[in-house]
Amino acid sequence: MKGPEEKTLPEPVSYSPQRCLGRSRLVSLLAGLGAFALINGYFRGTEPTVYYALCSPHGTANIYTVDPDNTKVQCLVVKDERFLHTSAYAELQEKHPGIHIKFLQHNSIVIPGITDSHVHALQYGLQKQLPLEGAAGVLDAVAKVRAYIESDPAVLNNRSTFIEGWGWDTTKWSTERWPTAAELEADPVTRGRLIALRSKDAHGCWVSQKILDIMEPIPEKVDGGVIVRDSSGKPVGVFLDNARDLIPIPPPTEEVLLKRWDPVVKDAHAVGLTAIHDALLQPNTIDFFHKQALEGNLALRVYGMKYFDDKSPYWGNTTKKIIGAGGDRFTLRSAKFVVDGALRSRGAALYEPYSDDPTNRGSMRVEPGTLNKTIPKFLEDGWQCIHAIGDRTNGVVLDALGAALEHADVPAIRPRIEHAQIMDHKDIPRLGKTGVIASVQPIHAISDMWYAEHRLGPERVKRLYAFRSIIDAGARTALGTDFPVEDMRPLATFYAATTRLSYDGDSPHGRGGWFPEQRMTRLEALRGMTIDPAFASFTENILGSIEPGKRADFVVLSKDIMEMPAEEILKTEVLATVMDGVVVYGKV
Ligand SMILES: *[C@@H]1O[C@H](CO)[C@@H](O)[C@H](O)[C@H]1NC(C)=O
Ligand SMILES: *[C@@H]1O[C@H](CO)[C@@H](O)[C@H](O)[C@H]1NC(C)=O
Ligand SMILES: *[C@@H]1O[C@H](CO)[C@@H](O)[C@H](O)[C@H]1NC(C)=O
Ligand SMILES: [Zn+2]
Repeated sequence: MKGPEEKTLPEPVSYSPQRCLGRSRLVSLLAGLGAFALINGYFRGTEPTVYYALCSPHGTANIYTVDPDNTKVQCLVVKDERFLHTSAYAELQEKHPGIHIKFLQHNSIVIPGITDSHVHALQYGLQKQLPLEGAAGVLDAVAKVRAYIESDPAVLNNRSTFIEGWGWDTTKWSTERWPTAAELEADPVTRGRLIALRSKDAHGCWVSQKILDIMEPIPEKVDGGVIVRDSSGKPVGVFLDNARDLIPIPPPTEEVLLKRWDPVVKDAHAVGLTAIHDALLQPNTIDFFHKQALEGNLALRVYGMKYFDDKSPYWGNTTKKIIGAGGDRFTLRSAKFVVDGALRSRGAALYEPYSDDPTNRGSMRVEPGTLNKTIPKFLEDGWQCIHAIGDRTNGVVLDALGAALEHADVPAIRPRIEHAQIMDHKDIPRLGKTGVIASVQPIHAISDMWYAEHRLGPERVKRLYAFRSIIDAGARTALGTDFPVEDMRPLATFYAATTRLSYDGDSPHGRGGWFPEQRMTRLEALRGMTIDPAFASFTENILGSIEPGKRADFVVLSKDIMEMPAEEILKTEVLATVMDGVVVYGKV
């Protein structure tokens, strides 16, 4: 793979370096030739130099560096796309006479750029594009589809455009029944088009007549799926679970993916995100992100996990890793196994049956034997992995990881479990012992707390989202939201992790929080959204804190979330988001 500096490096006139010449060697060569002054020009093109300081008001130090000592400083200095210094105001005047200085507003603070360690970005974008969530019924949903078509001439004027929407929810409709292809056919604008609309819970898909026609002949039955039919046996246009696989949804083009990506970037910058870890990439989305990065179009840093489907051949030795493409914007070096399902749908694999379904203990989608065989291979080939929700899955995954890691260089591999939701007493200490990073989603805790005890019973539920126990066992946590499953706002994650309360300040255990002994401290939460995800994505040397030499990614917040009363955290505003020293949202 081409490195980013190779891509942007013009050939010096008097000297022809080999393509493989590293940047540092080239720098020293050019310096030796007395051409040092040219170097900035070579590497930065004709862009003006970015060089400024940002300081707290007189006598305060409101910049949380999140360095190893969690230092707070008065000023930071940005030169080009990196932090040059952090310092006190007096020292700044001395070292950088004449530098342009901006001042923070009273009470506002600066923290490093925030990472969401577990997202499904393009899924979020798809959901934003044609959202049907608020529809009051079938006709209202059809009206939303029509409005979407009418809003985009390229779609309106081309009846071959494939239209995808998301979020219909029959439980929210005035009459709870399945929608039909006939209802899309009844409207003159939606009629005769290729339309596929996913349900909010993602189990169902509602399609138009034109798609039904393409799908002929439709089979009688699908294992693990439902083809919804009318009283005469004719498919109405709704397909559930495995039956959805019958629907011929074309792979999205680059143009379609860009349309999904744009709202992700816009919303992410507005909430303070500068990086995301995308938890389920496929070859086409990997190519998409890689291309955008190389073209300088990737406005968020993306750390990718490539999906491993145990029915397909092993790819750890054939897929190329991508490290820091396009100025540290895109990396692919993690494998994602989806080993079990969710707690809500009782799909998480447990040691003991569900308390509210004694015949069911969930199921593993990948056999333990396969995990034992495949995980060591991925680790050996230099890939980070995996995903586990239920306590049984976490145990089995830790078995496989533990055996593989016994003789491995753990800091080089940084094994990581996505979710680590329910963990057995005996397994929590193994996280710390084996050096496995727990990638956890605090908002899940406050979403699930209302029903979790029904599923798990009064004892086992204590080991669900047991953040304190995980940290005390010596494990590192990286925090995420799983958006679009949960609220994208990192401040909501910060609030959930540190309070274990619903947004309105309540919990099944009252206003003191749900198992408050499992709360994270604010410092742990802040580190879990900045430097810990940087470590979990092998970027702690360039991202995750405000330290000289690192990329200048930072966020300005309206108030000090480290000091304020908990109930004000969610009222805090993101005033600005800065990447590589450049404001990408708001105003500094
Ligand atoms: C209409 O959309 C289809 C499918 O995206 C595309 O192949 C075709 O080129 C488009 N036609 C026009 C005239 O843009
Ligand atoms: C990759 O690994 C698989 C499974 O171990 C093996 O069958 C295959 O030959 C390997 N391919 C290459 C190119 O090394
Ligand atoms: C997987 O590996 C673990 C640890 O080495 C072992 O205890 C377990 O029996 C293995 N499971 C299978 C199905 O091979
Ligand atoms: Zn996920």
